Amino acid sequence: MQTLLVTGGAGFIGGNFVHHILQQTDMRVVNLDRLTYAGNLDTLAALAADPRHIFVQGDIADAALVERLLREYTVDAVVNFAAESHVDRSIDGPAEFIQTNVVGTFTLLDRARAYWSTLAPAARAAFRFLHVSTDEVYGSLGPTGLFTETTPYAPNSPYSASKAASDHLVRAWFHTYGLPVLTTNCSNNYGPYQFPEKLIPLMILKAQAGEPLPIYGDGGNIRDWLFVLDHCRAIARVLEAGTPGEVYNVGGNSERTNLQVVDTLCTLLDERLPNSPHRPHQQLKTFVTDRPGHDRRYAIDATKLKRELGWEPLETFESGMQRTVDWYLENPAWCQRVMDGSYRGERLGAC
Ligand SMILES: NC(=O)c1ccc[n+]([C@@H]2O[C@H](COP(=O)([O-])OP(=O)(O)OC[C@H]3O[C@@H](n4cnc5c(N)ncnc54)[C@H](O)[C@@H]3O)[C@@H](O)[C@H]2O)c1
Repeated sequence: MQTLLVTGGAGFIGGNFVHHILQQTDMRVVNLDRLTYAGNLDTLAALAADPRHIFVQGDIADAALVERLLREYTVDAVVNFAAESHVDRSIDGPAEFIQTNVVGTFTLLDRARAYWSTLAPAARAAFRFLHVSTDEVYGSLGPTGLFTETTPYAPNSPYSASKAASDHLVRAWFHTYGLPVLTTNCSNNYGPYQFPEKLIPLMILKAQAGEPLPIYGDGGNIRDWLFVLDHCRAIARVLEAGTPGEVYNVGGNSERTNLQVVDTLCTLLDERLPNSPHRPHQQLKTFVTDRPGHDRRYAIDATKLKRELGWEPLETFESGMQRTVDWYLENPAWCQRVMDGSYRGERLGAC
């Protein structure tokens, strides 16, 4: 049985990945998560009785803890999701982003290398360090063109700059030390278990409550949306068959403006909540001051991942959005409990 050290597995994508990998394989998962405001054990509640899931509350920047977990569980691969992930928070408080995304990733790499160098030759060759990153490292696109794996890095926010720094460290640990690393750069994810500060769950919860739906700027910023389980399948595939040292872009080929995303959500909520006093939900749309330095357009060319590893997304934007809206409507208790912390759905990162 293979053992993965998954970091940030109580967060949105990491939590979905842990569920996915335990359902689809016989692997064991050691899940290291600091449980910041974004980490939530409710996401993992269904795994409480699964002996293949070992949850450890701790920090990826804690070198002694990381080293102990790698050795104690004879880890075969590290999958690094742990991060501060919200652009608006990075504008208000960048220090946490440097600490976790840069120092934390360095610590993981450093301890993984120390552990990896002690393995027997076959285990050394099979070991993998998969770093989960974002398309935001490439900066902003004009009206045309796509990000490929060779697009120069041009991060514009403290968040994307910290992720870019971590990607560079991962690359250097391959070129300098030979650590078998893999990097994935993915577009915007949506789906179950996403903390309701991000666009899609925030809009669903605000619309249900009849609150204004804040749209930054003119609503014309474009993102390439990918259903979270398609991202999880891509990561599993890269882990299984990716070439060490390589980078793989992951995207859904589903470019939408923020306004289109909100309109889609409003239509789905109108259909699903026929008795809501807030229908039509479109009337709740409110334009607010734009985010400082807001990147205009991201779009991913995922040809390499498709051609070399045979990955394709299973959900369209429409089917994924339906699943997402249904999940949030069916799981008010999860939403309530994650919102019970310090975050109350307020505007962050306006400077
Ligand atoms: N959400 C997206 O659309 C998206 C897209 C592409 C890439 N990514 C990347 O995927 C990864 C996961 O993103 P997400 O949206 O699930 O984030 P998230 O904020 O929902 O989850 C992050 C998790 O990391 C944990 N964490 C934070 N600091 C930690 C630390 N120092 N030690 C251990 N655990 C810590 C948190 O408790 C939380 O559970 C991130 O690296 C992010 O950059 C996200």
